[in-house]
Amino acid sequence: EKTGFSHFMEKEIHEQPEAIRRALRGRLDREYATGHLGGLNLGSRELLEVGRIVLLAAGTSYHAGMVATYALEELVRVPAVAELASELRYRNPLVERDALYFAASQSGETADTLYAMREVQRKGGRVLGVCNVVGSTIARESDGGVYIHSGPEISVASTKAFTSQLAAFYVFALLMGRMRHLSFDQGARIIEALEAVPKQIETILANTAPIQALAKRYASCEHFFFLGRGINYPVALEAALKLKEVSYIHAEGYSAAEIKHGPLALITEETPSFFLVPRDGLREKVITSMKEVKARRGPVIALAVEGDREVADTADEVLFVPEAHPLMYPFLLAVPTQLFAYYCALARGCNVDQPRNLAKSVTVE
Ligand code: F6R
Repeated sequence: EKTGFSHFMEKEIHEQPEAIRRALRGRLDREYATGHLGGLNLGSRELLEVGRIVLLAAGTSYHAGMVATYALEELVRVPAVAELASELRYRNPLVERDALYFAASQSGETADTLYAMREVQRKGGRVLGVCNVVGSTIARESDGGVYIHSGPEISVASTKAFTSQLAAFYVFALLMGRMRHLSFDQGARIIEALEAVPKQIETILANTAPIQALAKRYASCEHFFFLGRGINYPVALEAALKLKEVSYIHAEGYSAAEIKHGPLALITEETPSFFLVPRDGLREKVITSMKEVKARRGPVIALAVEGDREVADTADEVLFVPEAHPLMYPFLLAVPTQLFAYYCALARGCNVDQPRNLAKSVTVE
């Protein structure tokens, strides 16, 4: 049932507008400019007492959690951290009374995430699940949670679950923010921005030819950098993960600020850098990093906002996304990088939906 698509990965990338609409459906309240999540099992008083948010996950879900920490800190003004579930479990973690934990997992069966969740619960912590598969172990054993309603994700490489997890976390950030210092107008702006995302992704998906052409030109490279800043730094990590998983090209995701602290040594004419350059407060800094790479003769690809001439002129290659609210760029920048990975894998003749050595859900530690 790939209906019109060559692979599940391609189909699932294209399902994202609908998947995000489903993740948001019934959860945005325009009257009070807030969010609703039915299954949290937490009252207002308990939510107000939360002093710290910890997101536990692995792989792509971990990257979604990392993006969420930026949105949570910005909208809720509460400290938020994403932790690799596998690492947290063995650190004898401190479980503070006012901390709220999330276990984010598409499958709901990832052993690393499940065991970390149990460890936190054993120490008296409260863990909410953010899962796709209904009735999965993490969904059942968590103390409450949110389903992302993406529909089945068949491709081993996770795509739509990433953006749908973001949607769910953003609704939570909106509702927590509105309980604290976020004004009605600020809340209304977030709702409007979130509701615009599916259409903006549709615009990207309506014109994939430039992404495919770019992938064809670069698919023979053996090394790649993906570079972003701020809330889009985890998107760079995710883009690198996607490329290595499906195309077997070695890719590294970095904060664009970090390359001067070492990775610049690897820049050659054969090692392209793929920069994420939205119109946000860090744009100038990213442009500076692009110039640093160019000065070392590294090919520079930029994923920028429609109409950004300066970035287009600085880069060797440019792809565009629509203009959006600054917090929404992770959704819009993720999609072309997923497609880029997909088309590189096609060009290299890889088994896109079932990459070597990987399984869809990792139920062993
Ligand atoms: C990457 C990928 C993996 C999973 C990770 C967690 O494309 O699929 O990195 O994201 O194994 O899986 P879940 O979300 O099911 O816990």
